[in-house]
Amino acid sequence: MDKIKNYIDTNKDRFLDELFELIKIPSVSAQKEHDSDVRKAAELIKNHLLKLNLDNCEICETQGHPIVYGEKIIDKNLPTILVYGHYDVQPVDPIELWDQDPFKPYIKNTKIHPEGAIFGRGACDDKGQMFMHIKALEIMMHQNNLPCNVKFMIEGEEEVGSDNLELFVKNNKEKLANDIILVSDTGMISKTIPSITTGLRGLSYMEVELTGPNRDLHSGHYGGTVANPINVLSKMINSLHDSNNKITIPGFYDNVIEMSSDERKELNKAPFNINEFKESIGLKLEDGELGYTTSERQSIRPALDVNGIWGGYTEEGAKTVLPSKASAKISMRLVPGQNWKRINKLFTEHILNIAPETVSVKVTEHHGGQPYVAPTNTIGFKAASMAYKDVFNLNPIPTRDGGSIPIIALFEQELDSKTILMGFGLDTDAIHSPNEHFGVSNFFNGIETITKFYFHFEKLFND
Ligand code: BES
Ligand code: MN
Ligand code: MN
Repeated sequence: MDKIKNYIDTNKDRFLDELFELIKIPSVSAQKEHDSDVRKAAELIKNHLLKLNLDNCEICETQGHPIVYGEKIIDKNLPTILVYGHYDVQPVDPIELWDQDPFKPYIKNTKIHPEGAIFGRGACDDKGQMFMHIKALEIMMHQNNLPCNVKFMIEGEEEVGSDNLELFVKNNKEKLANDIILVSDTGMISKTIPSITTGLRGLSYMEVELTGPNRDLHSGHYGGTVANPINVLSKMINSLHDSNNKITIPGFYDNVIEMSSDERKELNKAPFNINEFKESIGLKLEDGELGYTTSERQSIRPALDVNGIWGGYTEEGAKTVLPSKASAKISMRLVPGQNWKRINKLFTEHILNIAPETVSVKVTEHHGGQPYVAPTNTIGFKAASMAYKDVFNLNPIPTRDGGSIPIIALFEQELDSKTILMGFGLDTDAIHSPNEHFGVSNFFNGIETITKFYFHFEKLFND
């Protein structure tokens, strides 16, 4: 057994204990009541970096949640790796669907993770995955064998749009200068089939509020005489897709870069089982844009979804009411060629256009971000491939992911460097959902793969 594996093996239990300690902190960035917990998580990470002897460790204050930074510059001639991750997590609702407390992590065997999986909010997204980088660094520091300069930047606002990180990056270009950015916040194809994410979708997130009558009305007395904002909103939302499931907002597809048929063939060669896909989410039938496979719909095609809709009476029993207001939160996943700010504008114009005069309309923009596509002909990609090959005995398959990490496109724009997305989560790990988990072997394999990456990258860089 080599030195890396050996170190992981002897320190397994402690690695897990330390990760548990981090998961126990309910660092939900979206909820004010957790502000002090978010800070506690930042402190804990800073202490880990300090313990590893990183220099210039600090908690960088922002208008929102803090960013943790630390670095080890050993030699100006060596390449510099910037590690990015997030310590904030999604809210836990619906809490009643969790088998146990989301912030009391535990290990349980599952069909997909027979060796055990760590259950808890953030276990995979992104505490577990981010923590692999800290442990990989521990191995190299402990063995006195760090082959690259390293900078860690771990933020607390990824799940709420990274607005303050954007400013931090723009104001600290020198400090963050690097040769490659390394991120584990995505997935892999399966436990035994490694993959490297080469693309992320962008995001435009909007909210629509319709107002009809100036108060809730008796639905008997008034029903049939005035426009009901919920009825109107439903009609409007329904019209946003045509019968082929194409999005009907004028100009929406204008700049979408279509993949060539060769590229599409290549994409569809990656292992994907439609039956497993359906079974894993309890569906009989998939659905989506006509003319594309599910793999394509999930990654290289844009999508528009209502994330939440409300208005009127939704409590127990029945109340006869004709509501004054109706609202919906709507997200659009974007692909290369699309610009999120332009899409925000097109969406707003279209909603105002299709709303009847019987209601007044308010459209609000939430966060957004650009899609990202990573080249595969770089030494970063090659080093990552070699690292996966070492650990999984297979060359990783490049895959485009459907999720978004908006800051990655901004890194490229502001820091002029590429990101390698070395994800170790599985689609079935239920990130953002009840009973989120992360395979124990995914965690340890991830630590090993990341460590190997440093050595391959340094070699290729200086060749
Ligand atoms: N780690 C995810 C993104 C992700 C997950 C990408 C799986 C690819 C595969 C990240 O934490 C996330 O949830 N991003 C949000 C966007 C953000 C602006 C709230 C998303 O994709 O909804
Ligand atoms: Mn994440
Ligand atoms: Mn997330």
